[in-house]
Amino acid sequence: MASFENKSIVSIRDMTRAALEKVVSTTAMVKKDGPKGFMEGKTVAVLFFEPSTRTRLSFESAVLKSGGTVFGIADPAASSQSKGESFADSIRTIAGYCDVIVIRHPVEGAARMASELCDIPVINAGDGPNQHPTQTLLDLFTIEEQIGKLEGIKVGMVGDLKYGRTVHSLTHALAMFGNELSFISPPSLKMPRHILEELEKLKIPYHEFVSLEETADLDLDVLYVTRIQKERFGDPQEYEKVAGTYRITLDTIEMLGGEVKIMHPLPRVDEIDVEVDDTPNAVYFLQAHNGIPTRQALLGLVTGGLK
Ligand code: CP
Repeated sequence: MASFENKSIVSIRDMTRAALEKVVSTTAMVKKDGPKGFMEGKTVAVLFFEPSTRTRLSFESAVLKSGGTVFGIADPAASSQSKGESFADSIRTIAGYCDVIVIRHPVEGAARMASELCDIPVINAGDGPNQHPTQTLLDLFTIEEQIGKLEGIKVGMVGDLKYGRTVHSLTHALAMFGNELSFISPPSLKMPRHILEELEKLKIPYHEFVSLEETADLDLDVLYVTRIQKERFGDPQEYEKVAGTYRITLDTIEMLGGEVKIMHPLPRVDEIDVEVDDTPNAVYFLQAHNGIPTRQALLGLVTGGLK
């Protein structure tokens, strides 16, 4: 990806390491200097066919803070898809109303399909259990802000690694920087085999564990915690078997050496105890707030308002 202008952002796998670094450095510039008005005259459609708090609202805020206008779908039942309109017809129509489409959809590949249906940039805000690239971009920015670098770090990912799209995207990104990765999950929710095979091809060292205690001596820089994705289980009894498997407490932080940064894409259910929130280890609310400069940077880059 040599230039971002007019390009869709569908998967981290489409991006180079240089492109990831460009978004991170542009985000730092936006957060520090707060350039204004680079989205003036641009309209963004924010189409959410799945629930969201952070991604949708931070995209809307990012557009408004950058001088653009925003409209969208927050409730699919209120759109004409509820009358039987096809996804393709909806996207072709909406593409004529705006300069950028941001889309979240429960079906894997929906953002890719949307990007092939129109000639304006489409940004994937999460497609089923597949990818969530803008979450990864704000995660990378937060890691650099907190740890001071993006390579030579040890990252543990814990929870639902099967259905958690944020950890799929983040694994691809951290692999580009050659980092050592540890995956902690119940056996039924392991990182998908095709992602592990990619790590093996790239010779990226990774470890798989079932319990957090097994990672005590690894000296992790970051523990990335994920929610068990209840909505993706076909059988509620299978969800009940793994619900509440992991809970991060002050004892967990001590066990991991006291310095580890705790990240989480949010929303959380019960996997991080609220007693952790006021520790210097907890960076998940800062991480969520970094969604605004990151999405401002990305919107500016794909519309050509930022270079
Ligand atoms: N992190 C994230 O995607 O949160 P939302 O589902 O609230 O957008």
